[in-house]
Amino acid sequence: PAEPLVLGIETSCDETGIGIVRGRTLLSNTIASSMDEHARYGGVVPEVAARAHLEALQPAIEAAVAEAGVRLGDVDAIAVTSGPGLAGALMVGVGAAKALSVSLAKPLYAVNHLVGHIAADILAADAEPLEYPTVALLVSGGHTSLLLVRDLTSDVELLGETVDDAAGEAFDKVARILGLPYPGGPEIDRAAVVGDPSAIRFPRGLSRASDRARHRWDFSFSGLKTAVARWIEQREAAGEDVPLADVAASFREAVVDVLVTKALDACAEHGVPRLLLGGGVIANRRLREVALARAEAAGVTVRIPPLSLCTDNGAMIAALASELIQSGREPSTLVFGADSTLPV
Ligand code: KG4
Ligand code: ZN
Repeated sequence: PAEPLVLGIETSCDETGIGIVRGRTLLSNTIASSMDEHARYGGVVPEVAARAHLEALQPAIEAAVAEAGVRLGDVDAIAVTSGPGLAGALMVGVGAAKALSVSLAKPLYAVNHLVGHIAADILAADAEPLEYPTVALLVSGGHTSLLLVRDLTSDVELLGETVDDAAGEAFDKVARILGLPYPGGPEIDRAAVVGDPSAIRFPRGLSRASDRARHRWDFSFSGLKTAVARWIEQREAAGEDVPLADVAASFREAVVDVLVTKALDACAEHGVPRLLLGGGVIANRRLREVALARAEAAGVTVRIPPLSLCTDNGAMIAALASELIQSGREPSTLVFGADSTLPV
């Protein structure tokens, strides 16, 4: 159909997302998160996430269908994230999607989570169609990836990604070092408001001239985390107070600086005047502010989907499948499985 009704299932991390779209129109976007259950561990625990998905899926599907005002039997296709992500968590979504596809006798589309994040953009209510090519920077608790998108349905190239921690993970770990609760991103954002971002010069990972050959578009945040820990240890050993706001602001500045610098360098080197941002870390005010200011200076237009579509959700998965269907893509056969390292 020209405007397929698609139900999307997303379970790659700690959000159980069910979304329903008709063509490019968002009908519902239900999200159940197990974040609270992970809080006391300071990060997502894979087994806990998988079990939470199992419990949350059925109610989430019912809620999404009710909110969309459709009947489950009316959907034209089922879409599911098959990777990348946590293996056990992915498996729960993939299993549910196969069961739905078989029981409803509807085609099934297995899609890539990262490409799904890019597809979130087409659901923004007032969005002009995505123009190609565009560079996409996806930053969350699970990934930090830079992509060159020539066509959403057929040509997405991974330029680089984190070689260790994801940016959101770095926020969470540094928050823990600072004694702030999980998730750490919003906490550091808040603490940084009254801090001086230039108080401490923390390292920008993989930004040296010597990193260019092998890691031009890659990111690294674990050295930054260690640098923050060392800096605090030294202050404490010297009996001095730790200026929380300055540490938070300086750490945030280091993350933001390296993300925006690499993203805009990628735009410049590939001659692409467009940058799309996605992932939960886009909630960071300083990141949006610096990205918008530097992009404007560089003549690059920035697109940021609404935050509810930037964090992990099922609607973006449905939206991507909807585009694939309209481009004539054949459905997946039932033999695919969850693939925690699925390439774009
Ligand atoms: O996309 P998302 O909701 O899902 C996962 O990746 O699981 O991203 C969550 C991540 C967490 O690491 C959280 O600390 C981070 O995004 N985050 C932020 C902010 N809000 C959430 N990081 C920095 N600044 C924020 N304001
Ligand atoms: Zn994600």
